[in-house]
Amino acid sequence: MPKLLTPSQIEACKRDGYLAPVRVMSAADAHQCRVALETHEAKTGQPLQGNWRHKTHLLFTWADALVHHPVILDAVEDVIGPDILCWTTNFFIKEANSPGFVSWHQDSTYWGLEPDDVITAWIAFTEVTPENGYMQVIPGSHKIDQLPHVDTFHKDNLLSRGQEIAVEVDKTKAVGLALHAGEMSLHHIKLVHGSDANRTADRRIGLAIRYIPTTVRQTKVRDAAMLVRGTDKHRHFDYEPRPKADLDEAALEAHADSVARQVKALYSGTEKTAFRA
Ligand code: NI
Repeated sequence: MPKLLTPSQIEACKRDGYLAPVRVMSAADAHQCRVALETHEAKTGQPLQGNWRHKTHLLFTWADALVHHPVILDAVEDVIGPDILCWTTNFFIKEANSPGFVSWHQDSTYWGLEPDDVITAWIAFTEVTPENGYMQVIPGSHKIDQLPHVDTFHKDNLLSRGQEIAVEVDKTKAVGLALHAGEMSLHHIKLVHGSDANRTADRRIGLAIRYIPTTVRQTKVRDAAMLVRGTDKHRHFDYEPRPKADLDEAALEAHADSVARQVKALYSGTEKTAFRA
C-alpha cells in the first residue's frame, strides 16, 4: 500500500518524471519556514550566504525538521522505497525583480550519483507562479540518456556551473509547475527542467531536497548524507548529524565538512572551492 500518493500519481511520476502539486503543509506553516529563513537573514543583514544555501538542513533545526517531514517522506517512499537518505538541500531563492534564472539542465550532470534513482522534493515557501519564475519541465525527458551540457558560469544562472543542455530543447513541450505555498513538486534526477527570472515585487523561495535510496552510490568522492527513514545495509555514505541548535559549533563543523565534499564532486575539473556567493 502506498503511504501518501495514489497508484495513479505514482504511475504518473514514473511515466512523466515529475509530479505536482502535492500538499505538504498549510500555507501558514510554509510562511513560518519563510519567517525562520528571513529571521536569520535579518540578523546577518543579507540574503542567506553562498555555501549556506546548500545542505542548509545541517545548520538549522527548522530545515532539519523539513527534510524529516513525514508527508514529504511518505511521498518519497512511495516513489523510491522505504530506505531513504537525504543527500542534500539547495535553496532556490529568486529575489524580487531580479535576473536570476535556471538554464535547461538535467540534475544528473555533475552529481556523481549512480544509479539514477534520485528524486527531488521541491518545497514552495511562497506562491510559485509563471511570473515569479516557476520550474518548467519536459515531461518524459527523464527516460532519455544523459545529454551533453556546457558550463557557462553565467552570473545570473543559479546553477553551480551555469550548466545548460548543449542541444536544442523543444520548449513547446514544456509544462510549468505552479505551486501554492506549502505544496511541493517531485522530479527525477534526469528530467530536463529550467526556469525564468522573477518579475514580481516579492521573493520566490523554494527548497529543493534531494533524496536517494540507500542503494545509490557516489562515484566522485567519499560523500556524506543523512539517513532519514528506514535502514541502510549499504553504507555508501558517511552519516551527517542532525543539528541540535541553529548554527551551533557541531552543526557548523558538520556542514563545512559535507559541503567541502560536495563542492569537490560538483566542481571537479574546475578551480572552484566554494559555491557561488
Ligand atoms: Ni535542477
